[in-house]
Amino acid sequence: MHTTILVTGATGNVGREVVTQLAVIDGDLRVRAGVHSLIKGENLKRLPDVEIVEIDFKNRESLHAAFTHVDKLFLITPFAEDQIEMAKILVDEAKKTGVKHIVKLSAMGADAEPGIQLGRWHREIEKYIEESGIAYTFLRPALFMQNLENFNSESIKKEGKFYMSTGDGEIGYIDTRDIAAAAVEVLTSEGHEGKSYDLTGPEALSNYDVAQIMTEVLGRKVSYVDVPEENAREAMKQQGMPEKLADALLELHGVYRSGYSNEVNDEVQSLIGRKPHSFRQFMMDYKDCFM
Ligand SMILES: NC(=O)c1ccc[n+]([C@@H]2O[C@H](COP(=O)([O-])OP(=O)(O)OC[C@H]3O[C@@H](n4cnc5c(N)ncnc54)[C@H](OP(=O)(O)O)[C@@H]3O)[C@@H](O)[C@H]2O)c1
Repeated sequence: MHTTILVTGATGNVGREVVTQLAVIDGDLRVRAGVHSLIKGENLKRLPDVEIVEIDFKNRESLHAAFTHVDKLFLITPFAEDQIEMAKILVDEAKKTGVKHIVKLSAMGADAEPGIQLGRWHREIEKYIEESGIAYTFLRPALFMQNLENFNSESIKKEGKFYMSTGDGEIGYIDTRDIAAAAVEVLTSEGHEGKSYDLTGPEALSNYDVAQIMTEVLGRKVSYVDVPEENAREAMKQQGMPEKLADALLELHGVYRSGYSNEVNDEVQSLIGRKPHSFRQFMMDYKDCFM
């Protein structure tokens, strides 16, 4: 009997990597990549035996084909104002179509009480999954190393600087390739039902440490600029970020600044049997993105 795994958000940071890693596993596995737009999913087509399906989380009609005969769902929703509504639609469809296991990409601190807004949004989705009666596993990663590529590489290339408002707080930055490896393990082996995993990288680094490692790997000076909260808010506003999301991000940055997010654990290693990538290794692998 084969197992069919549907990955949503399959063109995003983690989803793309999960599909790529699942695609090379031998065995009776069918991998279905749920993409928002077929054009963005074009790159996934070169992967062996990956079926691409177009889905829109906001449109229940679009989910039917994607969910047909799915055994396991890797549920990723974007950082968006309506993420809870989108996730609930996916869980409802999973229930309707008999999905047996949902693995949800959540966030570190989702279970903290009272926690912060970002975590509470994730926890609300987690609770909805728990109440669905479907077996579940929650992956709760720390901040992604790849954010630096996505959001900061332009200013690093142009000015040799990156801007954040995290002070000198240390963060357990994690590589999305390791989150994906943990997800693949959970999706393809037994015994993870009802469990939550807090996933961190191997070391807690402040953004000053990050800048120092970037300087050493790139061979030119990179500086971290600690931005006051008001300036960060203004920049987010200018980029068109909804106020609700900006508030949530700034609250998260406040947690980093206070040093409450410096946890480092060995859950990735326990799951995948090797150490997660260090930030230096990430920089060596992604060097070209910052040049
Ligand atoms: N970034 C971090 O440091 C961090 C840390 C911890 C947890 N997280 C959590 O990780 C999750 C995001 O994961 P990620 O960074 O891998 O995702 P991402 O790169 O932001 O990608 C989101 C994916 O969702 C798709 N999508 C967006 N709207 C959709 C819709 N209406 N219908 C169908 N697909 C849609 C996107 O496709 P299109 O691009 O084509 O729209 C994309 O493939 C969030 O829940 C976030 O809270 C992030």
